[in-house]
Amino acid sequence: MIDKATIDKIFAAADIVEVVGDFVTLRKKGVNYTACCPFHDEKTPSFMVSPSKGVYKCFGCGKGGGAVNFVMEHERLTYPEALKWLARKYGIEVEEVALTDAQIERNNDRESMLVLNSWAANYFKEQMNTTDDGRNIGLSYFVERGFTPSTIETFGLGYCPDSRSRDAMSRAAVKEGFEEKFLTSTGLTIIREQDGSYYDRFCGRVMFPIYSLTGRVIGFGGRTMSTDKKTAKYLNSPQSEIYDKSQTLYGVYQAKKAITAENKCILVEGYTDVMQMYQSGVCNVVASSGTSLTEQQVRLIKRFTRNVTVIYDGDSAGIKASLRGIDILLKEGLNVRVVPLPEGDDPDSFAKSRSATELASYIERMEEDFLRFKTRILLDDAEGDPAARAELIKDVVHSISLIEDKITREVYIRECAQMMDVSYDVLSRSVVEAIVALPTARINAQREHQISQNQAITTHQKPLVQPVVRVNSAKKRGSAMVELERELVGYLVKFGDQSFDYELSDDNVVQMPVAQSIVNELVNDGIEFTVPQYNLIFQAFVMAIERGEVISTTDLLNSADSGVTSVVADILAWDDNYAASQIWTRFDMRPKSERELLFKSIPKAVLLYKSKVVEMRIKDIQVQMSQSEDLDEVLVEQIKGLNSIKMAIADRYKRLL
Ligand code: CTP
Ligand code: MN
Repeated sequence: MIDKATIDKIFAAADIVEVVGDFVTLRKKGVNYTACCPFHDEKTPSFMVSPSKGVYKCFGCGKGGGAVNFVMEHERLTYPEALKWLARKYGIEVEEVALTDAQIERNNDRESMLVLNSWAANYFKEQMNTTDDGRNIGLSYFVERGFTPSTIETFGLGYCPDSRSRDAMSRAAVKEGFEEKFLTSTGLTIIREQDGSYYDRFCGRVMFPIYSLTGRVIGFGGRTMSTDKKTAKYLNSPQSEIYDKSQTLYGVYQAKKAITAENKCILVEGYTDVMQMYQSGVCNVVASSGTSLTEQQVRLIKRFTRNVTVIYDGDSAGIKASLRGIDILLKEGLNVRVVPLPEGDDPDSFAKSRSATELASYIERMEEDFLRFKTRILLDDAEGDPAARAELIKDVVHSISLIEDKITREVYIRECAQMMDVSYDVLSRSVVEAIVALPTARINAQREHQISQNQAITTHQKPLVQPVVRVNSAKKRGSAMVELERELVGYLVKFGDQSFDYELSDDNVVQMPVAQSIVNELVNDGIEFTVPQYNLIFQAFVMAIERGEVISTTDLLNSADSGVTSVVADILAWDDNYAASQIWTRFDMRPKSERELLFKSIPKAVLLYKSKVVEMRIKDIQVQMSQSEDLDEVLVEQIKGLNSIKMAIADRYKRLL
């Protein structure tokens, strides 16, 4: 566990704009920043960050909180992991209080794997730079391929030595105290089944560390030095807790700044393509690492830009093989362009033989819209072959149907119709058919699922009475309750730790924190909030006050509970006036100053809420009474009691007016 003093230091240091900005391209808008939400798919930004309030909030999917919660959600870290992540970012030393064994294990598996990978990357680097084999085999290979020392450093390249027993790295790691389970879970070490001995997965290969968005080594690619055709050219780390090939783009850590700056991402195939382009001054470049693009990879790109340029190898077989894979970029709403290379070149070889300006101007000159390119390529291919032409048209129709923007689609239909020499009407109709065909299948599946679920509910839980009327009235009175609860939670969150003069009774004014006054008023009458999330926050205050502690807005915003942080972010993110205006207008009590807000609005809201609760209890008892034949004395007494509470509340309320 991290001690509270360190946690407070981390809260204080974590700048929400800096933290979110590490992952998302933020654009300034007034005093706040906006972006497309990284947690759900959207085309217009509904994600906002408020530096003054320390809050992020998505008005689309509802996620929200402070810096800690953002790191937790985004990097899928536990609370302590997120705190440590922030501590590392801000150079804060973490003092840890002893943990139980189980806790250590749970929290540290991922972290241990990352630490091991980082050690291994350094080890490979050191081997390459300081040993004879490393220099003669590894370093000289990279130099021969034309990489400069600076590129080699930027991409953290290294060499995994080839000892006779093929376990040099594993032995070094064990000597450093790394546990076997992490050696195997990261895939660095493989255990021979026969005798349980170790061997290095990457033995004798040059090493390309694969970095996460935040620059941690999540895996490796290793290229063989052997020319033997039977040896796999590249080996990669296996899928693990920390490495998922389908979610990773090689080079994204090094490229993310340039992608944002250029508002464009260049997509190539391999490790060396990325490095060579980067070295030639085109830094906004990432690789899918040989596989076809996945949705997650496209989403990763979308955090930084909407514009993607794919650079193809120069051979036509390669081009055709990857055309289909590009459709996913269209589907995700990106603007896709392609740059074909001369026959026989790949980005690596092409960039190597050219200066930075030559490379940049080639890209600019040759960049072509993807669909136009695709149509052209396939047309060439299908010449004089009606069946192939029909296939081609179907293929193009499919691609166009994936574009969501209607106007863009229209432009493509016109242009492609002309290119393929088919009538506009035919093409347009086919596209519409394709659009209708796809999502309907999805909607139908959803509907079926819902129906089967509803059936399950109705057959298992038959309602005893028809609650039509009661449900309606409960809803009506519920909405005022919910609004008031939100209002009170808002006061707890925003002013909870502020002291004010609180009138307990006539001439009995005491100084106390806002939170304490609210808690006292409600707890004394056994009142809890009906909305679970609001009650969670209310109970946190109740417990803190019992322990004599103070809860600040920062504490709440950075709480480990995402239910709490999202409510708090929601309250803070809305304009102060907006959040309360409904209540203030409804009850005609808009405060003229913060002082008036503290002294009048808060006590008024508390009293209003209490009287609503009392009214509700009275109504409930009345319903109970109407259902029984005889007059129940107990219920009558209860109503009398509640009525007198109601009068007392009304009295106090009048004095506040
Ligand atoms: N790749 C891989 N595993 C393989 C083969 C390829 O992960 N067994 C990935 C690598 O990221 C590689 C990319 O696919 O960089 C492209 O593969 P290829 O064209 O075969 O490699 P090049 O990058 O051209 O490799 P080199 O120039 O070193 O020969
Ligand atoms: Mn190559």
